Amino acid sequence: MSLASTRPFASRRVLLGVTGGIASYKSAWLARLLTKAGAAVDVVMTRAATEFVGPVTFEALTGRPVHTGLFDAGRALEHVTLARAADAIVVAPATADFLARAASGQADDLLTACLLAATCPVLLVPAMNDRMWAHPQTQRNVHHLGTLGYRVLPPDEGMLAAGEGSGPGRMPEPETIFAHAGRLLETPGPLAGLRVAVTAGPTREALDPVRFLSNHSSGKMGAAIAAAAWRRGADVDLIAGPLAVAPPVGPRVTAVETTADMADAVRRALATADLLVMAAAPADFTPAAVAPSKIKKGSRPPTVALDFTVDILASTRDARRPGAVIVGFALETDDVMAHARAKLEAKELDLIVVNDATEEGAGFAVDTNRVTLLDRAGGSEALPLMPKSEVADAILDRVEGLLGGR
Ligand code: CTP
Repeated sequence: MSLASTRPFASRRVLLGVTGGIASYKSAWLARLLTKAGAAVDVVMTRAATEFVGPVTFEALTGRPVHTGLFDAGRALEHVTLARAADAIVVAPATADFLARAASGQADDLLTACLLAATCPVLLVPAMNDRMWAHPQTQRNVHHLGTLGYRVLPPDEGMLAAGEGSGPGRMPEPETIFAHAGRLLETPGPLAGLRVAVTAGPTREALDPVRFLSNHSSGKMGAAIAAAAWRRGADVDLIAGPLAVAPPVGPRVTAVETTADMADAVRRALATADLLVMAAAPADFTPAAVAPSKIKKGSRPPTVALDFTVDILASTRDARRPGAVIVGFALETDDVMAHARAKLEAKELDLIVVNDATEEGAGFAVDTNRVTLLDRAGGSEALPLMPKSEVADAILDRVEGLLGGR
């Protein structure tokens, strides 16, 4: 197995409902993403959906039979068995007609019958023409379904089918639905109801209007932690310098440029945060003066005087709420554990995630990491080389233990 390939949905069973909208072609990709992540995907199509995409497409992508009829011979109780077996139900796309039938509790086809027979969490992903979405009937149905406990992922704005212009109604991309399915499967997540702030990436300190000082941080580790915390049910603020990766689906993103900006954003987030994870690599130095215009080459190379930037963790100590868990990172090249423990003490952290920058497969830009977790009580846990997504989960497992003890 490649270290980058993980199967977060292994041994989970997802019922994917597909109704008759043009966006159903995107659901084939969603079925593939879920299957690739290890889920057993039971596809249930309405009759109208089969007019858009053939069941055989879903069968080939999931490797499982596709279900279409409520009254197929020999399958009379299928709605009950499918609904009972599902860990989560995702209906994508959910047409206006389907939402209306679901909202009124009808069970006139296999998919609506499954919904009524299910007790697992359900995500509805509406997709339709923008005027149909805006219609008070549809809005009332969506609101009512929300009050029944169904989660609704609102449609995106964008180009609609058949030259219909653009407006809200477009189904979100399969990757976005996939991320929401991950959070759905964790319901109720261990971090539900908690506010988590995560920093990621480098910061930039301007030298002149076109140049800056920065570092090689990609933001992958912080983005993975933010994604994992959101999947576990938390309300997540991702405070991000310029990232080399797309920000994850779910967390609110605050984009910052300098270390001082990041410090301000962290201070604001700490007012409500139950957990802060400082995975960013803020620039430690800033030019003592920013040249107002581009520094010309001239006859000699310039000498740049530097000042320290603010140490974010240390300078925001007074902003922490009592009981909040604070996690820092340490990137070291020598005397690794001693330096890391000194940072844990000096910055008053509960946990520090130690990276040895000289190790292969660890540190910036790569998809894997090998870290050691040091805690305040003197404990130390060395983790093997693993994908950053798994490192994120290991850190949050430890954090949940700390939060539970408060
Ligand atoms: N950090 C911070 N503010 C800074 C620099 C770092 O809050 N200006 C945080 C990092 O996000 C990390 C921890 O402090 O969680 C340790 O960062 P690291 O770069 O390893 O150490 P420094 O404190 O910068 O010390 P040194 O560069 O001397 O190793």
